[in-house]
Formats: sequence, C-alpha cells, structure tokens
Amino acid sequence: MIQRKFIVTAGPTREHIDPVRFISNPSTGKMGYAVAAAAAGRGFETVLVSGPVALAAPEGVRLVKVVSARDMLAAVERELEDGASAVLVATAAVADWRPAECAAQKLKKRDMKPCISLVRNPDILKTVREKAGGREKLMLVGFAAETNDVIAHARRKCEEKSLEFIVANDVTEPGSGFGCDTNRVTFVYPDGSTKLLPQMSKHEVASRIVDEILGL
Ligand code: PMT
Repeated sequence: MIQRKFIVTAGPTREHIDPVRFISNPSTGKMGYAVAAAAAGRGFETVLVSGPVALAAPEGVRLVKVVSARDMLAAVERELEDGASAVLVATAAVADWRPAECAAQKLKKRDMKPCISLVRNPDILKTVREKAGGREKLMLVGFAAETNDVIAHARRKCEEKSLEFIVANDVTEPGSGFGCDTNRVTFVYPDGSTKLLPQMSKHEVASRIVDEILGL
C-alpha cells in the first residue's frame, strides 16, 4: 500500500438545542483514539477529528476538536483538501439528526415546547466518497454500532456507504461497544463475508484494523 494519510473520526457529536442543552450519545472516544494511536505507531501521518471527549491526543497524532456532525464533516473535508491519498476510519458515533433550530440563548423552561423538530445531518462517509472518487484516492472504513441483527445491518451500511469494510460491534454485549476498554467486533466486507474477532482490548482491535487496511 502506498503511503497514505490516516484520518480517524472519534467520539460523539453534540447537536445543540441551545447553548446548554444538546442531543448526543455515550461514545467516549476510546475506540477512535486507539485507532489513531495504532496508525501513528506504524508511522502514518495521523489526524484525529474528535467530538467532545475526556481523552488526551495519543502521541504523534494531530487532534482536531469538533462539536457537531457538520463541524466533523467540515474538518474531514479540510483534511482531504490537499488531495493526498488517505484512509478515513470513521469510529465516531455521529448524530443522524439535529434540532432544526438552535436558540442563541438558554431557553427558559416556560418557553420550551415538549417536541423538538429535527432535520437530517449530512452523512460524512457518503459525502466524502462522492467528492473524492475511487479508493486509490480515499479508502473508507466504517463502524456499525448495533443492538440487533448486527451483521445484516452492517452489510447494508457497508454497501450503502461504499466502504472497504465495516467494523460491526454489538453494543448490548458486555465488554463491547460504548465506554468499555474492550470490544468484540466483526469485520464485514462488501461481498458480504465476515471475520469475527474474539473480545480484546480496543488497542488490539485498533491494531487489527490497521493490519487489515494495510493488507487491502
Ligand atoms: O467511543 P467508544 O466509547 O469507545 O465507543 C465506540 C463506538 C461504539 C462508538 C464505536 O465502536 C462504534 O461503533 N462507532 C460507530 C457508531 C455508530 O453509531 O455508527 P452508525 O451505525 O450510526 O454509523 C455507521 C458509520 O457511518 C460509522 O462509521 C459512522 O461514523 C458513520 N456516519 C454515521 C452518521 C453520519 N451522519 N455520518 C457518518 O459518517
């Protein structure tokens, strides 16, 4: 594989309702930070585009902090502007929806309505695939956090987002998914085939992902 820049997205995004309230999810960034550390450890120029988490940047990794899904997309697009060939490993748990409006000031309880109108966020993987063209220029690896029919959902996402492969994790399984230091993942490929890995530390999973990318 020719020398590529590694871009990793990590953590949650926050979609603000007002300056003090937001829609988000429990991602801590552990999986993504481990992938960035593994890529940097193999000598790749590595950029970590991270939603709000409590982790420090791994050694040798350039950290770009973002808040919302739209910020994350803009940051990833900026990293691709130089036209260098790149790998994007999207571990981030990106909010699919955001409030249609974000109030400039904290909403008072009495002014709040019991329903929030939502609009779709852009899909980062699909957007960059459409702009960047083929895999010689940009390789895309996604993640799928699922609670049921894990492999079927992962296969669909792998196809819809034109990925090299997708890393599926069942977030209901103890020791897998959000927040923990371990993960049990299955690599799912575009032809539908799968490779199940045993439960291991997120750092070991990260290393296996980098191996897999290098072998493509
Ligand atoms: O951060 P941790 O606490 O360590 O937890 C790790 C994790 C559970 C967050 C991680 O292992 C994981 O599964 N990440 C994907 C979370 C997810 O919800 O994915 P998804 O099924 O919504 O999205 C599929 C893929 O599309 C992902 O690669 C995602 O980054 C990407 N996506 C999603 C929405 C969007 N608008 N744009 C995207 O690019």
